[in-house]
Amino acid sequence: MSGGRTVPADITAAAIASFEGCGDERLRTLAQALARHLHEFAAEVGLTQREWEDGIRVLTQTGHITDDRRQEFILWSDSMGLSMLVDALANPLPEGATESTVLGPFYVPGAPQREYGENIAEEPDAGTPAWVYGRVLDTEGNPVAGAELDVWQNGENQLYAVQDPEAEEDHLRGVFRTREDGTFAFVAVRPTPYTIPHDGPVGRMLQSTGRHPWRPAHIHMIVRAPGYRTLTTHIFDAESEYLDSDAVFAVKPSLVRQFEPRAADDPDRPAGVEGEWFSAESDFVLVPE
Ligand code: BEZ
Ligand code: FE
Repeated sequence: MSGGRTVPADITAAAIASFEGCGDERLRTLAQALARHLHEFAAEVGLTQREWEDGIRVLTQTGHITDDRRQEFILWSDSMGLSMLVDALANPLPEGATESTVLGPFYVPGAPQREYGENIAEEPDAGTPAWVYGRVLDTEGNPVAGAELDVWQNGENQLYAVQDPEAEEDHLRGVFRTREDGTFAFVAVRPTPYTIPHDGPVGRMLQSTGRHPWRPAHIHMIVRAPGYRTLTTHIFDAESEYLDSDAVFAVKPSLVRQFEPRAADDPDRPAGVEGEWFSAESDFVLVPE
């Protein structure tokens, strides 16, 4: 060290250099880039002491509200578009393959195995029935038999079963298997837009920046088959509000589906479905591992 004044760039250089001795090359890359971008951010906006304190307070509140059931850090990642970016970077897709999107906090492993065409609604008045059907295919268009579709969605009350103390644990979720010809079908309900959890730090960020907490109507699925990359995705209702302003940036145009209105006396009406109903067709194209 020799005389002269310390300028901001000296501090940044020292922080980056402090990781030079890190033996794990990948960790060194991550740590140095993180330090560099954090410093660039602070320098670019001229971060004040007060703003730095606010940031620390928000992170502390995020830690306090996070537990086994509530993951506010992931919600930050979702609501800043980072979850979608990380997924896109990790999963560049060949032409024709179905695009992925966020998992979200309401997936619970262990949904019941259900038969072709079965209804996933276990509570009355879950919503307007929707026959969801299609095929699981490979990128050459061949059917994938025995693929697993792990499906979950919210009902008309906007809630997923895990959020609803009144609902059966297995309400609006189930695991289906494709038949020999790659086909699958199930009775769902027409999904409903809903808000991401917004009673915590992320909600306060949305409020203070003039953003809304809504997600457009969608049905979640994870599609798994041996020899193929697991696909975590949604299908979105083409008529839904908020397709253009999803709070977590998870809409991809290729995942938007038409929910067609069907007549009460339509001969294709699924067993057990009465009155008004809809159908939505969606194929899923998997990428070989
Ligand atoms: C969801 O679709 O379930 C979801 C995704 C990200 C944040 C909150 C909810
Ligand atoms: Fe969802």
